[in-house]
Parts: sequence; C-alpha cells; structure tokens
Amino acid sequence: MGIDVKFLEELCSRTLQSTDFEGLGERHVGKVRDSYVKGKERTIVVTDRVSCFDVVVGTIPLKGQVLNQAAAFWFDKVGDIAPHHLLGVPDPCVSRVRECGLLPVEFVYRGYLTGSTSTSIWTAYERGERSYCGHSLPEGMRRHEQLPTALLTPTTKASAGKHDELTSRGELIASGVISEELYDEAARITGALFEMGQRWAESRGLILVDTKYELGIGEAGELVVIDEIHTPDSSRYWYRESYERAMSEERNPEAIDKEYVRLWLGEQGFKGEGPPPALPDEVRCEAARRYIEAFEQISGRSFEPDEEDPIARIARNLGLDASSTP
Ligand SMILES: Nc1ncnc2c1ncn2[C@@H]1O[C@H](COP(=O)(O)OP(=O)(O)O)[C@@H](O)[C@H]1O
Ligand SMILES: [Mg+2]
Repeated sequence: MGIDVKFLEELCSRTLQSTDFEGLGERHVGKVRDSYVKGKERTIVVTDRVSCFDVVVGTIPLKGQVLNQAAAFWFDKVGDIAPHHLLGVPDPCVSRVRECGLLPVEFVYRGYLTGSTSTSIWTAYERGERSYCGHSLPEGMRRHEQLPTALLTPTTKASAGKHDELTSRGELIASGVISEELYDEAARITGALFEMGQRWAESRGLILVDTKYELGIGEAGELVVIDEIHTPDSSRYWYRESYERAMSEERNPEAIDKEYVRLWLGEQGFKGEGPPPALPDEVRCEAARRYIEAFEQISGRSFEPDEEDPIARIARNLGLDASSTP
C-alpha cells in the first residue's frame, strides 16, 4: 500500500479529462462522469475531473479509477437491500449499468452535525436554525457531534449549473415530486444502505459521516440504486480514533475525502463563484494520494493503478476502434 509520488507527478500530464467515443451511444457529460446511453444500457466513464462547490476545478491523477473501483466495491455489498444498476466493470474507469428513469431527488444522510457549505447542517445550526429538512434539532449541540439519529435530508436534483436545494419529505410529497409510497420505500432502502455503510466503515476504523444516494426507476417500476455509493466523492469519512481526540481538543476531525481540495481552494479565496484557481500539480498529487488512501482504508484492498493511456485502453476494453479526446 502507498503510492510513489514521482509516479503520480508523471501521471499529472495525462489524466482523463474528457472523452468522445463513437459508437457507444448518446453522450451525456456530467461534472465527473461521461455517460453513453444506448437502449437499456448506460456506459459510465468515470473521468479524473474533480468537482468542488458544484464546479469542475481540474483533474486528479487516477481519480477515475479510484472512484469507479470504490463504487463497484460498494455495489457488491448492497446484497438484498435493493436491486442496483451495476452490470459490469469492463475497464478500471468504466462501468456498464442498467439505464433507469430518474427520481429528481437526492437522498442525503447525515450522521453528524458538520459541513461548511451554505446548505450544510452545521451552517444552518450555527445560524440558529433548529429545524432542518423537516427534522427538529436539539439545543446545545457542538460542531461535528454525532446527531441523536442519522437524518435523511433530501435535496432536489438540480439541472446542470444549478445547486441542489434542501427540501423535506413533506414538501416533496405536497408538491407532487414523488408519491408518499415511493418516498417511504426510498427512505427504507437508503436508510438500510446507510446503516450497512456505517457498519462497514466502523469495522475499518472509519466513520461514514454523511453520504448521498441516487435512486432510479427500473423497467418494472422498482427502485434501483444508481450512480455511485459511499465513494469519497459522495461521502464524508473521518478516522474513528482521531475523531475522539479532535473533539476533545476542539479541532476538526481528520477527513479522508475531498475536503483537502475544498480547503485548498478556500485558502485561495474560491468558494464556488467565478473561475476557480488552477490546481498546482503538488495539490493534485496530494489529492490523488488521499483518494487512493481512502480507497485502501475503506476496502482493505490495495489499489492497483493502471498507467496505460486511458483513452486507448478504454477504447480497446470496450471493443471500439475510433476514439478522440477533444
Ligand atoms: N443507472 C443510471 N440510469 C440513469 N442515469 C444514471 C444512472 N447512474 C447514474 N446516472 C446519472 O449519470 C450522471 C453521472 O454523472 P455525474 O458526473 O455524477 O453527474 P452530475 O454532474 O449530475 O453529478 C448523473 O446525472 C446520474 O444521475
Ligand atoms: Mg454526480
């Protein structure tokens, strides 16, 4: 375990930034993933792009591989909680999945009173709010303290370029975005996923602090777990041991997620508005090291990087001939 920094420096000049494959289906470009949809299948290419404050701020070597493999690791653990979308992993950066109808809701779970963005539960609490996404919060809580129970704090899934907005079970049902039955079934599934994730994290010396799920609708109208689960992009993890120490010393817990990149951007005065500062290679390498460490710590497996040119490799693994990087 552990990765050579020289090797990461070399990879900085050939990260997977964008793709435009022919013959894979209709292309949809997300912040992090390029998806190609053909009939009932979606091919998801996880690029090395990193998004902070809902803005793509650059690329991080090997991030696509780490995230794709972390998601596959977790989908394997979903078991009989619910059906999931993953069909196969034909390349370190690629997943083949079942194309599903979208629920315009993201199911966010929060186990701790933390966060720093404008929509985070700590920001609201610090402002004096004691009601958050339909849940009432007790008085006298400290920053980063564990919530009495994990809370489902849904957001509406915003269209490209917009920020997701906080909402509540009541609001979503009243506005007809989702039926009561479907919401409650989704809450049951995602609640069980969060418990599963927390238990696993605990067994690895970590705390799964909060996370976000997306659910789709399958062909028979059933709910399907889609997108990614419990990855360092969709979740916040802290080390269990240093958490206790940090709380008693009133410091921030040691995080193994993209908080590092967010903090660096914050130090440069970037909070999501205007053009982001370019990430120096030093920061990109350190972020890569942390993504890899997160994968290894979470999974207990060592990360095997594939250093071949990603576009050529993906084209070969997917059986395509023509390919290009715009
Ligand atoms: N099985 C699936 N069926 C349909 N859409 C999916 C599925 N899995 C993931 N998606 C969608 O693919 C996109 C993934 O790309 P991403 O870069 O994460 O996008 P975003 O910028 O919206 O976060 C998301 O819009 C997600 O909702
Ligand atoms: Mg996403």
